Amino acid sequence: MSVCIIYHSETGNTRAVAEQLAALIGGELIEVKDLAGYSKVGMYLKGAPRAAQGKKADIEPAVIDVSGYDTVVVGTPVWAGSPTPAVNAAINALAGIEGKSAVVFCTSGGGPRKTLERMQEMLADRGADVRGAVSFTKRDLQKAEMLETLADLVRRSEKERIVQ
Ligand SMILES: Cc1cc2nc3c(=O)[nH]c(=O)nc-3n(C[C@H](O)[C@H](O)[C@H](O)COP(=O)(O)O)c2cc1C
Repeated sequence: MSVCIIYHSETGNTRAVAEQLAALIGGELIEVKDLAGYSKVGMYLKGAPRAAQGKKADIEPAVIDVSGYDTVVVGTPVWAGSPTPAVNAAINALAGIEGKSAVVFCTSGGGPRKTLERMQEMLADRGADVRGAVSFTKRDLQKAEMLETLADLVRRSEKERIVQ
């Protein structure tokens, strides 16, 4: 399998899911950093409104080349019912995403709202073939079956690519 798992995480939940997924199915992990360097309060006062407006952050890495992978997984924390500005920027920064399979996930306190739909739309606009989405609430983070659901989506998408 050739999988790339791209994620943003400020408080560790999305990173934990990304790392557990990589441990289950393999793949390269790419952490995206928001160069705004928010404080705890700043995340709510500045980050959340930017997320709600669909803004894009300045990120590191500035370009994410996925041309060497078959499937691209993108994970985000939910901020104000939306993907984070870092993830909006990361999707925009993908090079070679056209025609690749994509799977998305988010972690939230329990109200993901349209986060996954927005990520799926952005990836489809970039030419990706979006295969599915999984939403993890705080309680789901402890559930092995939720992680399995995400891993299965990725495995299935990889298998279908081999058959084609
Ligand atoms: C600025 C900010 C805004 C948030 N907005 C929401 C929200 O709208 N809905 C929700 O369910 N959780 C919300 N949360 C909770 C996070 O989505 C949740 O804790 C997530 O797992 C954090 O991911 P991370 O640990 O990878 O940074 C918010 C957290 C922060 C810091």
